[in-house]
Amino acid sequence: MKGAQQATHLTKQLLTFSRGGNPVKKVHKVEILIRDAIEISLSGSKQRCQTEIAPDLWNTKVDGGQIIQNFNNIIINAKQAMPEGGQISIKAKNFHQTWDGENLNLGEAKYVRVEIRDSGVGISQSIIGNIFDPFFTTKKNGTGLGLATCYTIIKKHGGDIRVESEPGKGTVFYIYLPAEEEHIFTESDAMQAEKGSGRVLIMDDDEMIINMLTLLLKSLGYSVEGAMDGEAAIELCKEKINSESAFQIAILDLTVSGGMGGEETVGHLKALEPKIKVLVSSGYSTDPIMSNFKKYGFDGVMPKPYTKESLSRALSKALQK
Ligand SMILES: Nc1ncnc2c1ncn2[C@@H]1O[C@H](COP(=O)(O)OP(=O)(O)OP(=O)(O)O)[C@@H](O)[C@H]1O
Ligand SMILES: [Mg+2]
Repeated sequence: MKGAQQATHLTKQLLTFSRGGNPVKKVHKVEILIRDAIEISLSGSKQRCQTEIAPDLWNTKVDGGQIIQNFNNIIINAKQAMPEGGQISIKAKNFHQTWDGENLNLGEAKYVRVEIRDSGVGISQSIIGNIFDPFFTTKKNGTGLGLATCYTIIKKHGGDIRVESEPGKGTVFYIYLPAEEEHIFTESDAMQAEKGSGRVLIMDDDEMIINMLTLLLKSLGYSVEGAMDGEAAIELCKEKINSESAFQIAILDLTVSGGMGGEETVGHLKALEPKIKVLVSSGYSTDPIMSNFKKYGFDGVMPKPYTKESLSRALSKALQK
């Protein structure tokens, strides 16, 4: 990872880890969150991933973006533990405290248990007690915040995270998330990541976010181009005017470090391409622009972190207007 990129990565981990992390919970199908995480963290890599999801798996009421981030951090560690490639296995099943004689000493009775297993280097007994500590790392470029972030996220959801490992053989993480008892309508039922089409312009100062969005949107059928600030977004838009590849929709990050942000960019894009739909995106859902987006010239909002469903819904809604 490049220096600057690593710094934003660190800032994001720290944000979730320390203060930014109050979960915004909705009912989700865990399977969909697992699939999104696999898609983001294993795209283009030589490690393979096998999944086994119980067909009767309960739903959970969680912050989808945070739980995806939690799975991502663990899958990335698994990948790094097998530098020569290898198999990652993810299983999800229902777990009841009174079954199997296993007692978690957690408050609820019903959980969804996700197991993420690798056949990598393993973790020695002398450090296994430290891996969830903030800043504990054995990697040259590690922040040591990956698992600390996971721990915070899972605890804020009333769940638990456990690890078992055998050096030289591999490691397995168990994540327990409280199950949602009522089978009510889920975010995922409502919006089985609807496919779409159209040309999307993404503006974000974080290259990782551009890459992740590009991947998710392409898998939904959109074609995508990215710009790292407002100036670059306007330039890209200008190049395409009146051509077949003119943009139909733009997702603009509200705050861009050292460049033109979304608030200023939206007017320029609308002047160039009057029909373009522009969504404002931010991790700060309490920002007044996010709640009064119309007043600032936007057609919709796209809160971070993203899930495939929230993205597909926001895009198809904006394109229908
Ligand atoms: N699947 C795994 N196999 C072997 N060791 C692991 C695994 N997962 C975590 N560890 C150990 O736990 C440590 C802490 O992991 P954590 O994800 O918190 O930080 P990191 O991976 O070192 O840094 P970052 O996540 O910022 O890249 C790692 O440095 C590694 O020693
Ligand atoms: Mg890590």
